[in-house]
Amino acid sequence: MVTLTINGKKVKVKENATLLEVCRKMSISIPTLCYHPDLSPHGSCRLCSVEISKEGRSRMVTACNYPAQDGIKVETHSKRVLQTRRVLVELLLARCPNAPLLQKLAEEVGVKSHPFSTMASDNDCILCGLCIRTCRELVGANAIGFSMRGTQRKVGTPFEVASERCVACGACEYICPTGAIKMEMDRIRKVRNSDTGTLRCCRYMRMGLINFMVCSNGFECWRCEIDQMMEDRFGTHPIFALKPAKEKEPLSVNGFTFYPELFYSEGHVWGKASDQWVRLGLDEMASLLTLKADGLHLPAVGTGLKKKEVLAEISASGKKAKILSPLSGVVSAVNREVVENPSLVWRDPYRRGWLILLTPDHPEEISKLLSGFKAKDWYSKQTSNLLDHILKRASNSSLNGDILENANLREILRGKWEKLVKFVLGE
Ligand code: SF4
Ligand code: SF4
Ligand code: FES
Repeated sequence: MVTLTINGKKVKVKENATLLEVCRKMSISIPTLCYHPDLSPHGSCRLCSVEISKEGRSRMVTACNYPAQDGIKVETHSKRVLQTRRVLVELLLARCPNAPLLQKLAEEVGVKSHPFSTMASDNDCILCGLCIRTCRELVGANAIGFSMRGTQRKVGTPFEVASERCVACGACEYICPTGAIKMEMDRIRKVRNSDTGTLRCCRYMRMGLINFMVCSNGFECWRCEIDQMMEDRFGTHPIFALKPAKEKEPLSVNGFTFYPELFYSEGHVWGKASDQWVRLGLDEMASLLTLKADGLHLPAVGTGLKKKEVLAEISASGKKAKILSPLSGVVSAVNREVVENPSLVWRDPYRRGWLILLTPDHPEEISKLLSGFKAKDWYSKQTSNLLDHILKRASNSSLNGDILENANLREILRGKWEKLVKFVLGE
């Protein structure tokens, strides 16, 4: 814990909290444009600027990415802060004079006009980067980015060519605060038909959120009942509701990624609970089993699973490994992407490599799974045993860093698949 003073009030807060998080908890309003709680902070709009001082020296910092520190004094509405915010809004207005969001903001901070020559861009993009981070961090597609510099800076696909990575999910359009990103129908149709010929895959199927759905609405999502159902169920774009297990920075445990906020079973299945269901996947150690998998079988949607029944079957060269369910419940969704491409499980075990969504019969069972420090201790023992027993002949130097980044180690593990199954699953 650290102690700091905000607007004259002493507070004790968690070490890694940002000033913005602390201020919001204290109900202090700070304007933001490029911040979103589900995305990594970008610090580009600088609208959240606050003044901090320590040992008589003061400076401006952006609250959304500045960590709370012992002994600092923070002013969120000093004369200097308010003046800085006004100038920033003036600059943004010079770029996008017609964006309603900026006009509203200008009114709030008392800006009536701006002294800068207008360098209006051809759309209302304020370069907040929310669309880019959404595509990269939540969708996992990484289809768009910034290009050019200065007043020419803009968002787009590499070389302005339609990106093959784009799954036309619409999350970028959804998150854009100014409406600058518009999904174009001909582009959507092209993207969604691109790898499936005339089979018109629904965007939620491409995102792995529903099992199989052919679009009968010409991709006009706004008149589709599935889209309506998703909106009713989640109240937001589903990629935000089902955001991957990425709320916090992961830990590295013996070179394996570990998320302390997830639940874990001793059968190496992780679980992430939401109001309606639990998302299940394989932890990074068990994801090694898919290194040489040639098949991955998951139960169909609607299947009732009892605790310890088979949740996933991984096959490799005619041999099978069975992953057991840590909970009882009904399968609500299956990740088709991993069925078609099992290597996604080891490539991205906590995000795009999830397996199923389960509506649990007894939600209270979730809290009986391993979590927090207990889970970390268990995972640490498991991974350290794995390194000792399976990788004992690999040189120490090759065991540094992320295990799965290392092609040599992957090769060794592929060659020891059956031993790995016995070790990981105790079969
Ligand atoms: S539609 Fe989805 S995948 Fe395509 S650029 Fe936008 S967020 Fe990325
Ligand atoms: S297109 Fe929208 S979300 Fe993307 S950087 Fe511009 S304003 Fe932000
Ligand atoms: S919200 Fe902090 S820099 Fe944009």
